[in-house]
Amino acid sequence: MERTLVLLKPDAVQRGLIGRITARFEDKGLEVVGMKMRHFSLETIQQHYAVHSERPFYKDLVGFMTSGPVVAIALQGNNAISVVRTVVGPTNSAEAAPGTIRGDFGMSFSHNMIHASDSPEASATELALFFSEDGDLIDWTPCTRDQVYNAAEEL
Ligand code: CMP
Repeated sequence: MERTLVLLKPDAVQRGLIGRITARFEDKGLEVVGMKMRHFSLETIQQHYAVHSERPFYKDLVGFMTSGPVVAIALQGNNAISVVRTVVGPTNSAEAAPGTIRGDFGMSFSHNMIHASDSPEASATELALFFSEDGDLIDWTPCTRDQVYNAAEEL
């Protein structure tokens, strides 16, 4: 199974969307294997968004992401990286289709509520950054897994 990182950004937290957004991932069948709420440091956020450091929006992005608490969630599932990005919707919330999280809850490009890893390399780096302590990630098997997936389908 694949693991991926989701960040519920300060706008999602301030708007009281933690529960509703997390429920979308659980409803889909994704497994929560890590969760922490923090006011993350400037250094952590700069490191996370280092790939955008030369972009004109970088300063605003870092300022926004350090403006308040963020919820980091580690999700697990078959093809979790692409499944999560489908559930989240495209970056510009105004253009995101109804049924996606951004399509249902947002109007903005920058206040788009969620960050989701976009590749296996990014998810590995990002999970290591936000879940670096022993015990941050939990190995467990939900009792519903055999119902959510059909093992025969994957043979
Ligand atoms: P995220 O998935 O967190 O990755 C980088 C973030 O930068 C992106 O979501 C947007 O919130 C933000 N972003 C990307 N492009 C722009 C832009 N042109 N203007 C403002 N914010 C942007």
